[in-house]
Amino acid sequence: MGNLFSSKAPICEKKKPEPIPKDLPEVPYAGSENPQENLANLGKIKGPYYINQVMKETGLGVFKLRLFEERIILADPIAINVIYDPELTEKSVDFGLANVNGFTLKGYFPTATVNGDDKATKKAGMWKILSMAEEKYGNDGLYKILKKHWESVLPLIKDEETNVDNLIDVVTVKTLTEFFFDKAFDLDLKTFLVWFFKGLTPKSTPGLELDDVGKQVTEQMYGYLNSTPWAQNVLPELLKADCRDAETLKSEALFFAFVFSAFGLKSGLSSIIPLFLNLDDETRNKILEEVDAFNQDDGKNMDEKLKAFDVTDRFATEVFRYLPPVLQVQGRAKKDFVLNSLKGKYLVKKGSYMTGYSYGAQRNPNAVRCPYQFTTTGDQKHIKENFFAFGGPHNQEPQNDNRKCLGQYISLNMTKMFVALFARCEIEVVSSLKFTEANPNRVIASDEPLRVSKFECPHK
Ligand code: HEM
Repeated sequence: MGNLFSSKAPICEKKKPEPIPKDLPEVPYAGSENPQENLANLGKIKGPYYINQVMKETGLGVFKLRLFEERIILADPIAINVIYDPELTEKSVDFGLANVNGFTLKGYFPTATVNGDDKATKKAGMWKILSMAEEKYGNDGLYKILKKHWESVLPLIKDEETNVDNLIDVVTVKTLTEFFFDKAFDLDLKTFLVWFFKGLTPKSTPGLELDDVGKQVTEQMYGYLNSTPWAQNVLPELLKADCRDAETLKSEALFFAFVFSAFGLKSGLSSIIPLFLNLDDETRNKILEEVDAFNQDDGKNMDEKLKAFDVTDRFATEVFRYLPPVLQVQGRAKKDFVLNSLKGKYLVKKGSYMTGYSYGAQRNPNAVRCPYQFTTTGDQKHIKENFFAFGGPHNQEPQNDNRKCLGQYISLNMTKMFVALFARCEIEVVSSLKFTEANPNRVIASDEPLRVSKFECPHK
């Protein structure tokens, strides 16, 4: 055996990049040859579900679709991994189709910045807010906050006209804001939505001025944040260790809480009730047994109670496998590389536009048994290997330089907590509980908003 410190022994051997074979095929085309036709389908007819339709019609998990520009669609659980690899993919400021998102140009979107350090700084800043909340409240505190806001909206379910999805949105936003900033968002939820469309986007689009409404909602959003204990007590401390100014940290905090955290989670939590009500009796009863144990005053803390879930835990993962609230993520190839897929290898050229279509990858029939069936059975290890709902593979840890969501665990935990809160309620539904991809703008697992004639929960 050679001496480790002899001059011949390499101390740190750099991995040589694999040579790219010259004869590799390019990714095949699917959809119409006419980009306008594809765009019409994508934009107007079926939204992102159109891509799933192409996938089903062609049987392809990796294909090129002609849109404004040509895109490689990655809807295969092996191929999709390249979009989550910062060595291979960058989230370019030029989004092609999604270029309308002016705020990405300013780098509000952590993964969208061209400057890697900038992205890492923003993600680290958001992470700090999350870690401080986790440290302060833990899962016990989070559950108490969620329960309080859920119980406060229940009396608002008055009749069959009440849109229960909207109330779940309120619960999500209030819970997350109280968790992060110690004061629940106290404005009408419309303020946040109008801010998203009229305040946030034009504010950062060069040459575009905010109109009066945009200005008003932006002021209201900052007004809310300024009124929180976080802005008054925590922010001054953060500023001592962060070289950025207060305005930057506030916009980062607003973006983190409302855009990253609340947007996906409010859709996810709204999917839970229809999916639970559609379960077969046996599965529902198993969950009810677990929920009864969860609700027992047995001295266990919330972490132990969450860990004791089995079928409820599978249910939570399946909610996001079946319908990830963020259906797709975008990126561009940083260099030429070999794309591995379930059906072979392809060559991807530097600069290619790529869409990581997690909805398709999680429903790929070559990897997932009965992909269109919502089920809590199946090998959890295999399911997690084919799960990309949170900006990366299930087992990928978030890093400042990757795009993995910081909220995977908190979202899955909140799903289980939410099941525990409503599972024993008596619910009579009057709206459709079917999910058929019929509504292109809806990423909730029922074609229409939940409406009920009865929603009565046991008093605890
Ligand atoms: C059901 C709920 C959620 C879903 C489905 C979801 C999904 C995602 C996805 C797909 C991305 C990648 C976006 C992209 O690269 O284009 C992402 C990023 C992110 N998510 Fe979530 N998310 C959820 C909830 C949360 C929550 C509750 C938090 C905070 C606690 C959070 C924090 C973040 C952050 C900070 C990023 C940016 C990561 C980066 O760009 O490096 N998310 N999320």
